[in-house]
Amino acid sequence: MERLSPESRRQIGEKLGELRENQIGEAVEQIIEFNKTPAELKAYMDQFVIGQEKGKKVISVAIAYHYRRLANALKHAMVENGEDLDAALRNTTTPKANVLIVGPTGCGKTYTGEVASRLVGVPFAVEDLTKFSEVGYVGQDASDILLDLLIAAGGNTHVAQMGIVYLDEVDKIATESVVYKDVSGRGVQKGLLKLVEGAENTIDLGKERISLSTRHVLFIAGGVYESLEGIVKRRMTRDGLEGDWKDYLLTDDFVAYGMERQLMGRFPIRAVYDPLTVENLRDIMLKSEESPSRAYVNDLKAWGIDLIFTDEALTEVARRAEQERTGARGLISILHQVLLEDMYCLPGTHTGELVVDGQYVRERVR
Ligand SMILES: Nc1ncnc2c1ncn2[C@@H]1O[C@H](COP(=O)(O)OP(=O)(O)OP(=O)(O)O)[C@@H](O)[C@H]1O
Ligand SMILES: [Mg+2]
Repeated sequence: MERLSPESRRQIGEKLGELRENQIGEAVEQIIEFNKTPAELKAYMDQFVIGQEKGKKVISVAIAYHYRRLANALKHAMVENGEDLDAALRNTTTPKANVLIVGPTGCGKTYTGEVASRLVGVPFAVEDLTKFSEVGYVGQDASDILLDLLIAAGGNTHVAQMGIVYLDEVDKIATESVVYKDVSGRGVQKGLLKLVEGAENTIDLGKERISLSTRHVLFIAGGVYESLEGIVKRRMTRDGLEGDWKDYLLTDDFVAYGMERQLMGRFPIRAVYDPLTVENLRDIMLKSEESPSRAYVNDLKAWGIDLIFTDEALTEVARRAEQERTGARGLISILHQVLLEDMYCLPGTHTGELVVDGQYVRERVR
C-alpha cells in the first residue's frame, strides 16, 4: 500500500467507523467458535491448492492449532474471568508459531494462506516486504501493515487482532540481497522482530488513534530463497548427510542466506513448496475450484460460446506453462495466448461450440 496522506487517513477512519458499527459480533463469534481439525482444514485447501501435500499439512496444522488455542484462551478469559473481549485479547498470551513458506514463484505460497484464512473466517492482509528494503527501516510501515489488516477486518479492531498477515518476498530483506548500499537489510529484519512477535501499535487515523496488538496475529512469511537449496546441499555433503534437502533445512541455512537468526527464530514452522509439475498444472485446470481454464469457459459462455478443451489440449497447455517457470501463473499466460484471437473475433459473430484440441494449442503457441 502507498503511504497515505492525512486526508485519506481521515477518510478511511470514517469509513471504518461505519463498517465497525455494522458487523461486530458475527466475525468474532466465528473465530471463538473455531473447531476445524487440521485434516478438515487441509481437505478444504485441497479443493483449491493442488499438490504441495507436505506444505498443506504443515500449514493446516499450524493454523488449526493457532486458532484453537486462541479460541480456548479467549473463552477461558471471558467465561472464567468475566473479561470483555478487549481485556481478554490484551491479557491472554498464547504461544505463537509463525510460519515460513519457501518455494518457487507461482507455486501457491500466498494462495494457501489466503484460502486458509477464508475457511477460518479471519481477515488476510498481504504485505510486500521489498518496500521495506527500499527505505531501510520499518517504523511507519508497521502501522501501514496494521492498517491493511484493519481494513481487511472491515474496521473491527478485535477481528483485526486475530487475523493473518502474509509477508511476501521475505527473502528480499536478506542482508546479501539488499541492493541499496546505504541500507541495511539487517535493520529491516530487526525492525520486524517486535511486530511478528507481538507488540502494541498505534495507528493514526487523523481524528482518532487506534491501538492494535499483533500478539495474536498469525504471520506467514513467503519467499523464493533461490540459492537456499544449494546452501543446504553443500552442508549435507560436508556433514555426510543423504536424502531430500527439504528434510534437512535448518535455521543455520537461512542465516547463511543472509537472514537474521532472531527473525528466523520467530518463524519456527517451515514448509518448502515444490515447483509445480506438468501433472500439477493439468490438475489445477481440471480440479481446482479456481481453475483458470474454467474461468475462460465462463467468460465465453457470457457470449453464447461453449468453450471445450480436449484432454490433449490441457496437457499441451500444462506442458508449455511448465516451461514458463512461473508456476500456475504460466497457465494464464499460455491460455491467453491460445485463446486471444478467438476471444477477439468470436463474440458477436459465433455462438455454439469452440473446441480447443492439441493441434489448436500447438498452432497458437510453439
Ligand atoms: N498449487 C496451486 N494450486 C492451485 N492454484 C495455484 C497453485 N499455485 C498457484 N496457484 C494459482 O496461481 C496464483 C499465484 O500463486 P501464488 O500467489 O500463491 O504464488 P506464490 O507462490 O506466492 O509466488 P510468489 O513467490 O511469486 O509470490 C494463485 O492465485 C492461484 O490462482
Ligand atoms: Mg506470493
